[in-house]
Amino acid sequence: MIEVQNGVFHLRESGWSYLFRATEQGLLEHLHFGAPVSIQDAPALAVKPGMGWGMAVTPNEADGALCPDTLPLEWSGAGRGDYRESPMEVWDGDVPLPAEFRYADYQIFEGTARLQSGLPQAGGGLQTLAVTLRAGALPLTLTLYYTDFGGVLTRRAVLKNESRRTLTVRKLMSWCVDLVGEYGLTTFDGGWIGEARRHVTPVEAARVVNESTAGFSSNRHNPGFLLAGKGAGEDCGDVYGFNLIYSGNHYASAQRSFQGLTRVMQGVSPALFCAVLAPGGTFETPEGVLAYSGAGFNGLSAAMHRFVNGHIIPPAWRYRPRPVLFNDWEGCMFDFDQRRLLELAGRAKKQGAELFVLDDGWFGARNSDRAGLGDYGVNEKKLPEGLGGFAGKLAGLGLNFGLWFEPEAVNPDSGLYRAHPDWAIHQPGRSDLLSRHELLLDLRKEAVRDYIVDSVTEVLNSADIRYVKWDMNRQSVLTGAAAHEYILGLYDVLRRIFAPRPDILLESCSSGGNRFDLGMLCFSPQIWCSDNTDPMERLQIQGGLSYLYPQSCMGAHVSAAPHAQTLRATPLSTRGNVSFFGALGYELDLKALRPVEAREIKAQIAFYKAHRDTFQFGAFSRLPAPEGWTGWQVRSERETLAGFFRGLVPAAPGIVKLRVSGLDNNRRYRVRARPQTLRVGDFGNLVKYLSPVRVNPDGPLLRAADGLYALPDGREDFTATGAALMAGFAPAALFTGTGYDKNSHNQGDFGSEIYVISEERGHD
Ligand code: GLA
Repeated sequence: MIEVQNGVFHLRESGWSYLFRATEQGLLEHLHFGAPVSIQDAPALAVKPGMGWGMAVTPNEADGALCPDTLPLEWSGAGRGDYRESPMEVWDGDVPLPAEFRYADYQIFEGTARLQSGLPQAGGGLQTLAVTLRAGALPLTLTLYYTDFGGVLTRRAVLKNESRRTLTVRKLMSWCVDLVGEYGLTTFDGGWIGEARRHVTPVEAARVVNESTAGFSSNRHNPGFLLAGKGAGEDCGDVYGFNLIYSGNHYASAQRSFQGLTRVMQGVSPALFCAVLAPGGTFETPEGVLAYSGAGFNGLSAAMHRFVNGHIIPPAWRYRPRPVLFNDWEGCMFDFDQRRLLELAGRAKKQGAELFVLDDGWFGARNSDRAGLGDYGVNEKKLPEGLGGFAGKLAGLGLNFGLWFEPEAVNPDSGLYRAHPDWAIHQPGRSDLLSRHELLLDLRKEAVRDYIVDSVTEVLNSADIRYVKWDMNRQSVLTGAAAHEYILGLYDVLRRIFAPRPDILLESCSSGGNRFDLGMLCFSPQIWCSDNTDPMERLQIQGGLSYLYPQSCMGAHVSAAPHAQTLRATPLSTRGNVSFFGALGYELDLKALRPVEAREIKAQIAFYKAHRDTFQFGAFSRLPAPEGWTGWQVRSERETLAGFFRGLVPAAPGIVKLRVSGLDNNRRYRVRARPQTLRVGDFGNLVKYLSPVRVNPDGPLLRAADGLYALPDGREDFTATGAALMAGFAPAALFTGTGYDKNSHNQGDFGSEIYVISEERGHD
C-alpha cells in the first residue's frame, strides 16, 4: 500500500518499505529502502547531516546541511550543487540545461498508470504514486512513477517539455536512488555460449557501470543486477535486486560518495543518445524494477521470480505448464525433409515430447545461414505438403507444432532484400557490417513492420501452430535514440502479431541469451538461455539467470554429448537433471541414440512431467553445497526436489553432507533419489571384472551390451525429519574405486542426483 503523511511518502508491504519525503526546499530525500517500518519512523530514518560538510554548495548558504551533494536523494539534476552522477541530461540546442527539479504535487492511482509510448509494462500493479517535479524557471515537468506490486516496486520517469522550443534529452534514467552503506554489485555478463556469468564488483569511490550498447539488452551485460550488503549470503543479509523492462541498450551505475552514500540508477543507455523533445512532447522511460530482501540472495530471487511469473509473463501463460518440446536444430541443422522430420517426430512422441519445433531452414532458399532469410514461403522440396500438411501429420502423431522465425533480419541473398534493399539498416557512406551473413531490417519503418506482421501472420494462419521461436542473431549498428526506436518498433510488431494469439507459446531467442530481459518476457513466456547446452556450462548460465528470472522462463534442452560447444562428454542423466530446472526440451538426433539412451530419455520425460509444476513454478533456491558441487532446489506444497551436481570427481572421494532448505523441522520426509542408470561402457576396462565370462572391453559383444543394457545406479530411499535434512544428510557414497554397488553413485565426472522429498503421511 501507499501512504502519504506530512510530505512523507511510504510504499509498504509485508517484506519491505520504501520511504522518501519532500524537503522544505522541494528536494526528494530518500529515507529508507529495506525492512518494513512505519511512516512515523521518517525522522528517525532520515540521515543527520549535522552542520553539514565543508565546501557545501547549497541553495541557502547559511545552512550547509541542505547541500544536495550530501543528501540521499530520489532524483537529482546536474549543475545545481549535486556533483554526483545525474540521472538526466537535457539540452537546448548545444546548451546543457542545469536542471533543478523541485517537488510540486503528487497523485495516487489504484492499479498501474499505463505507459504511452508502446514500451511493455508489468501488469497487475496494486497502487501507483505519481510525484510531479518542476524545474523552477525551466519549462520542464518531470513525473516520477512508483508502483507497488506487493513483492517489488517499479519506478519510471516521464519528462515533459512545456516550452515552445525543441529540446533534446541525452539521458533520462528510469530511476535513481541513494542508499546508505557499502555494497557489492553483482552483474551477469558474458558473450555467445557464455551468458550470465556472475561477477561481483565492490562499489567504492570509482563508478561501476553495467551497460549494453549492442542495440539489445545483450549477452554481454544482462540489465538485471544486485547490490548486496556486507555479509549477505544466499539465505541471509540485505540484498537489493534491480532490473529494467526493456530489451535495448541499457545502463546502470553505482558509486559510493565520500559521505558513504551509494548512488545507483538505471535506464536506457545514454551512450550517443539524443531524443528530440518537441514543444509539448514527452519522453518516457522504460519501467525499472526494484526489490529488497532481508533474507539474502535466495529471498531476493524469490521476490523477483514471483514478480516475473505473476506480472511480466503474458497473462495467458502465467503459471501455465510449458510443454516438453523436441527441437530439430542440433540434430538436423539445415539437413532435413518431411520424411526425416516425421521419423524424428515419431521417436520424440514415443519418448514423451508434446511439441515438435521445426527450427531454421524450412522456408525459401534457406539451406544454410547464407541465404533465404526474409522469405517466409515454405520450401516445398523439404515440406511437399506445406506447413499445414506437416502440422496435420504431427497432429496425427499426437504432437503440437512449433516453428522458428528470424523476422528482424534479412540475408542480402534473399528475395526480400532484392525487392527492398532499403528496408535493411545501412549506414550512409559506410560499407554494410554483416554478421552471420545477415543485416537487420529497419523496424523503425512502418512498411517494414507491416511486412513482418503480414508475412508472419500469413504463416501462422496457414497451419495449426502452437509455438513460435522468435530468433534474432546479430548485434545492431544502430546507436542511441535510433536503437531505442528500433526496440519500440519490435514491441509494436510483437504486439500486433501475438496479442490476437495469446495461446501461442512464444519463445524468444537471440543466438541464445543475447536478449534475455523483462521486455521480451512481456511477450514471450520463455527465452532460450543459450546455444550452449553442456550441462556443466548450463549450471553457470541457468544458475546466473536464476538470481533474477524464474525457471519457468528458461528454455533448457538436453543435447548430444560430446557437446558441440565444449567437446565435453557428460552423463545423459546430468543433462536431464540440469534441464529439469527449466522449460525442458530435447535437441539431438533421436535416431542416433542407443536403446539405453532412448529408454533413459523416456524415463526423464516421464519424471519431469510427474513433477512439472514443481520444476517450473516451485520456489527455487540455490543450496549450500560441498566444494565443487552445485545444489539447486524447487519446492511446492506437494514436494521438494533437490538437485546436486558435481564437477570432476577425485579418486576415493571423501564424505560429504548435503543440505536442503524450507522443510518443517518436526515433520518426517521420505527421500528418494531419481532412479538413474549407468551404461556398461562407463566401466571401461573394469567391465572384465563384472562379467562372468572373459570379454574384450572394446569388442563387439560389449559394444552391443553398452547400447542395450544399463545398470542401476545410486538407489537411495530413506526417511528423516526436516531438521536432519536441513542440518545435512549423508548421501550414498560416490564410486571409490573399490567395486560397483548399485546403492552408490558411480557416475564419475559431472554426475548428479535429483532427490524427491515428500512428507511422510501419518508421522506428524
Ligand atoms: C540461433 C539459435 C539456435 C538456432 C539457430 C538457427 O543460433 O540460437 O537455437 O535456432 O539460430 O539458425
